[in-house]
Amino acid sequence: PKLIVVTREGEEREINGEAGLSVMEVIRDAGIDEILALCGGCCSCATCHVHVDPEFAAKLPKMSEDENDLLDSSADRNATSRLSCQIELTDALDGLKVTIAAED
Ligand code: FES
Repeated sequence: PKLIVVTREGEEREINGEAGLSVMEVIRDAGIDEILALCGGCCSCATCHVHVDPEFAAKLPKMSEDENDLLDSSADRNATSRLSCQIELTDALDGLKVTIAAED
C-alpha cells in the first residue's frame, strides 16, 4: 500500500510500503530518519509520533490507553495524533498520509 509522509521540513515523500508492517517501520525503512523509534515499536517512547490526515483518522483502529497516555506527554499532540508504530499499514489504508510531528 502507498504511504505518503510529510517530513518536518515539509517535504512530501511517497513510499510503497509492505502490508503488515507498521507505519513507523515503513517510514524508517524508506530512510527517513526523523522518526527515532527509540523503543523499537513497543509503544513506550513516543518518538514515532505522527499527525494523521483527518480523512484517514477515522479509519484507523482505536488507540490503546498506553498510546493515549504517551501522546499526552507530547507538546505537539493534536486531534489526529497517533504513534506510527501502533498503526499497521494495510491495503485498506492505501494512500494514507501522515505528517511527522515536532520533536519533543
Ligand atoms: Fe516507541 Fe512507537 S516507536 S512508541
